[in-house]
Amino acid sequence: MSSTSDPIVIIGGNGKTGARVNARLQALGYSTRPVSRSTTPAFDWDNPETWRAVLKGTRAAYVTYQPDLAVPRAESAIKAFVQMAIENGLEQVVLLSGRGEEGAQRAEEILKASSISWNIVRASWFFQNFSESFMLEGILAGELVLPAGATVEPFIDADDIADVVVASLTEPGHRDKVYEVTGPRALTFAQCAEEISATLGRPVKYTSIPVDQFMDALKEEGVPEDMQWLLHELFTVVFDGRNSEVMPGVQEALGRPARDFKTYVQNTVESGVWSPVMQKACG
Ligand SMILES: NC(=O)c1ccc[n+]([C@@H]2O[C@H](COP(=O)([O-])OP(=O)(O)OC[C@H]3O[C@@H](n4cnc5c(N)ncnc54)[C@H](OP(=O)(O)O)[C@@H]3O)[C@@H](O)[C@H]2O)c1
Repeated sequence: MSSTSDPIVIIGGNGKTGARVNARLQALGYSTRPVSRSTTPAFDWDNPETWRAVLKGTRAAYVTYQPDLAVPRAESAIKAFVQMAIENGLEQVVLLSGRGEEGAQRAEEILKASSISWNIVRASWFFQNFSESFMLEGILAGELVLPAGATVEPFIDADDIADVVVASLTEPGHRDKVYEVTGPRALTFAQCAEEISATLGRPVKYTSIPVDQFMDALKEEGVPEDMQWLLHELFTVVFDGRNSEVMPGVQEALGRPARDFKTYVQNTVESGVWSPVMQKACG
């Protein structure tokens, strides 16, 4: 049986959402245990022997799966993880999920069918993919080259995701709910590049290429095969327009609207992350 002073474990504690969830929980005075492969104790999704020590003595978990719930091995991993959380006496698991992915739906069903209290935060693509992930390089180079065509996506702020996760973990009234969270506007990648370019004051353009050409480039760059599979899945299946609708999860969970891309762009320009000079000086 866990107690309210036991830590909340954050799987992926240094990640785009995990680090934000950790900072918020600590600011509210909660004890946390942010973990990943590089922490002590370590947590590795690909090595279940590392899981038990990390879960021991914790009362709840925020779970980000790596590399993505779409990969076939995610289903058995989530099943085993939820079982271990129950055996270790955790009260609640909050799972970060993706929209329109069969693998993500299977993981959600496993958690919902279990005996533990659950929350699912089913998110659209993050704003922060442009500044803290694989699209940063393209923004710095002034050209974002992707096989995304003109599909619109209601990108969301990882800060909003973290707020929804923290509310789910700390406030009454959220248990056993799915929050489907998106930003307030559906945008094409070209529109995102235009907004970034206008605020940044230098050209950033989006170039759409056929998916086969994109895959050839990934192979040439030596991107690992499972990552190639995942990107192919994302740009062919998930990016077919099925996820274009704006959803009210942030409003439902927090009673306020989701943050707009414009504010994120303004703040990110001010942070200097998109400034090639600062990147060089830091790198
Ligand atoms: N990006 C999006 O737009 C988006 C949208 C919807 C859903 N999602 C979902 O969000 C999840 C990722 O969350 P996030 O973006 O907050 O995390 P993230 O920024 O991708 O953080 C990843 C951290 O996880 C750790 N990690 C990598 N491989 C691991 C492994 N095998 N075992 C344990 N830890 C590992 C790494 O730290 P170490 O090197 O220290 O291990 C890394 O810093 C994925 O499941 C993805 O499908 C993403």
